[in-house]
Amino acid sequence: MQTKKSAQGEWSSRWTFILAATGAAVGLGNIWKFPYVAGQSGGGAFVLFYLLCVLLVGIPLLMAEITIGRWGRQNPIHAIQTIAKEAKRSKYWSLVGGLCLFTGFLILSYYSVIAGWSIEYVFKSALGEFSGATVLSSIGIFHRLTSNLWQMLFWHTVIMLSTGYVIARGIELGIEKAVRFMFPIMILIIILLIGYAMSTDKFTYAMAWLFEPDFSELTPNVMLEALGQAFFSLSIALGTIMTYGAYLPHKSSITSVSTAIAIADTAIALLAGVAIFPIVFSYHLTPSAGPGLIFQSLPLAFAHMPLGRLFGTLFFIMLVFTAFTSTISLLEPTVVWLVERFTWSRLKASCIAISAVWLMGLITIFSFNIWSHVRLFGQTLFGCLDYLTANIMLPLGGLLIAIFIAWKVPENLFHAELRPEKKIIYQGFKFTMRYIVPIAIILIFLQVTGLLKW
Ligand code: TRP
Repeated sequence: MQTKKSAQGEWSSRWTFILAATGAAVGLGNIWKFPYVAGQSGGGAFVLFYLLCVLLVGIPLLMAEITIGRWGRQNPIHAIQTIAKEAKRSKYWSLVGGLCLFTGFLILSYYSVIAGWSIEYVFKSALGEFSGATVLSSIGIFHRLTSNLWQMLFWHTVIMLSTGYVIARGIELGIEKAVRFMFPIMILIIILLIGYAMSTDKFTYAMAWLFEPDFSELTPNVMLEALGQAFFSLSIALGTIMTYGAYLPHKSSITSVSTAIAIADTAIALLAGVAIFPIVFSYHLTPSAGPGLIFQSLPLAFAHMPLGRLFGTLFFIMLVFTAFTSTISLLEPTVVWLVERFTWSRLKASCIAISAVWLMGLITIFSFNIWSHVRLFGQTLFGCLDYLTANIMLPLGGLLIAIFIAWKVPENLFHAELRPEKKIIYQGFKFTMRYIVPIAIILIFLQVTGLLKW
C-alpha cells in the first residue's frame, strides 16, 4: 500500500498539492459568494458560525478526504469502493462517490456562468464603463449583463472550453503555474480595496456588522447557510480534494496541508468581506442584494479611487483566474472517473463531461432572463440549484464521508495513512469525525426541517 500511486501521476511536491488545493478552495466562493451569503444572512452571527464550521467540520473533513484519496489513489467512486472492499463493507458505499461527482457536475454548471460574468467585467472595467459610476448605473450595468442571454452563453462556453482544455492536458501543466502567478497579485489588490474601504465613513459600522454577532440572528437557516458555505468554500464533500489527494506524495503530513488550505481560504473570504461591506454601506446598497452584490458594489469603489480603471481590470482578471483554478478542480474528479471507468482518453472524457455541464448551465443562464419569473420553493431556478447543492448535497456528502471513515473503516487500516501525525491530533481527528461532524450536520438538518426546535 505504501507504494501505491495514482495512474494519473503525482504532484511534484507537497507544495504543489497545497497550491493546487488552495487554488481549488479559493475562488468565487470566497469573493463572490461569501459576501453575498453573509449579506443575506445578516452578518456577524453568520460569520462567527461560519468560522466554527470551518474549524470543527471543515478541517476534519478536509483531512478525511485527503486520507481517502491518498489511500485509494483513484477517482472518488473507485477510491471509496477499494477502501470499502479492504474494510469488508458494502460496495454500495461507492454511491457516496457518485453523489460527490453529481454535486460537482451541478455546481460547475452554475459556477461557470458566474465565472463568465467575471470575464465580462474585465472588459467592462478595461473599457472604462465604470468611470463615474453611480449606484444606479452600476446596478444597471449588472442587469444589462444578466438579461443578455447570448453574452452569458458566450462566456459560459468560453469557460467550459478552456476548463476542458486544461483538464484534457493533465494535472501538472497549467494548474500550478496559474496559481503561483495569480495568488500574490490577488492578495495585493484585495488589500488595496481594503485601503479604499477604510477611507469610507462606514468602515467601523461595517466591521461591527461583520464581526459583532447578534445571536438573535442565528436562525437554523443561517446555520445551514454557514455550514453549506464552509463546505463550498473549502471545496469539500465533492471529491475534489479526494482526487487531488490521490496525487499527494506519501510522506506529506495530512494535518498540516489541511490546516494550511483552511487558513488561506478563510483569510481570503474574510478579507473580501472587509473590503466589500464598507462600500456596500457607504453607497446605501442592500447587503442582501444576492448574487449581484460584488458586481454592483465593486465598480463603485473602482470608479472613485485613483487608477481605479487599472485596478478594477486587474481585480477582475484575478477573479477569473481564481475561478478558473476552481472550475478545473470541479471537473477533474468526473473526468478521472470517466477515464478510469471506461478507459477513455482524457480528451474524450473531458469533451463529454464539458458538453453535459454546458447543457446544464443553460438553466442558470435562463433563470436570470427568460425564466426569471419561474419560482420553485419561492426561489429562482439558480437559487434552487445553489441551495440544493451547497446547503443540502454538500453537507449530506460530508456526513456520509464522516460516517464511512469513522464508523465503517477499521482503525488499523485508516491509521496507516494518518500514522505520521501526532497522537493527540490523531485522537482528536477520530473523535471529531465520529461525533462532532455527524452530530453537527444532523442537528442543523433537523433544525431546518423543523423536526427539532430549541
Ligand atoms: N471552493 C471553490 C470556491 O470557493 C469552489 C469549488 C471548487 C468547490 N471545487 C469545489 C466547491 C468542490 C465544493 C466542492 O470558489
